[in-house]
Amino acid sequence: MDNTPNTLKEDVKDYWNQQACGTQFTDKDKYTLEYFEEIENNRYIVSPEIFSFAQFTRYRGKKILEIGVGAGTDFLQWVRAGADAYGVDLTEEAIDHVKHRLSLYDLQASGYAVADSENLPFDDNTFDLVYSWGVIHHTPNTIKALDEIIRVMKPNGQAKIMIYHRHSLLAYFFWIKHALLKGKPFKSIADILWYNMESIGTKAYTINEVDKILKSRNVNISEIKPILSYYDKLERFNTFFRFIASIASKLLGGDKVGWFLTFQFSKK
Ligand SMILES: C[S@@+](CC[C@H](N)C(=O)[O-])C[C@H]1O[C@@H](n2cnc3c(N)ncnc32)[C@H](O)[C@@H]1O
Repeated sequence: MDNTPNTLKEDVKDYWNQQACGTQFTDKDKYTLEYFEEIENNRYIVSPEIFSFAQFTRYRGKKILEIGVGAGTDFLQWVRAGADAYGVDLTEEAIDHVKHRLSLYDLQASGYAVADSENLPFDDNTFDLVYSWGVIHHTPNTIKALDEIIRVMKPNGQAKIMIYHRHSLLAYFFWIKHALLKGKPFKSIADILWYNMESIGTKAYTINEVDKILKSRNVNISEIKPILSYYDKLERFNTFFRFIASIASKLLGGDKVGWFLTFQFSKK
């Protein structure tokens, strides 16, 4: 396979264009009220930690940018909370979801468009907050996406980002399934995630890597924190697997081995 950045990005785009993220949990007719309600209910059952991380209601009147809106569930919260909200995603499918969703609830956002996190169509120093949940580890040049986030933040503006954590239970379980049980224990976790986790080329980072990247930029780090997620707890699996996950998480330190690696910083 040709993994030059452009080809890889097209593969990523094709993958997420087939189905907007988070819509796999509903069988309701596309773009109906029932469809969107089920997506929203499911999202915050699976990831309730998003509320305390994002703190949507604190951004009323603030200029915010969400990168990688997916089906638009978090984006809807920014708009409902009265933020001056802009959203982008690499795919038409995601932006179409946002358009239908806002219209269904008779809500208006300041702007939303197909755009690439590695080349954001915004001026320097524009946003009070840039938010992105589970996105920039999918784009081929994650560092470029991070630098774009910093570029468009206002001085003292904030960023709230979640990327995947390599030292996590879910990553270990993935490695057991796709490497160990297939007789390929020499394969790295990074390699397994690249080929098996959602779109091709998915990366996961350690706390130290994020810390090092941020320390070499013009930002003040507020927090770098993994969160033990629904996926680490194997919540979709039977009692036996959930028991194994709960023992593993207790032994390995709970949130320390969470799949969601959240971090927050402000621009100097
Ligand atoms: C795992 S989904 C997350 C979506 C949403 N934030 C959520 O939590 O449901 C990843 C999203 O990132 C988007 N994405 C991937 N690469 C991107 C890029 N270079 N620029 C903008 N969005 C991108 C995909 O189209 C997809 O909607």
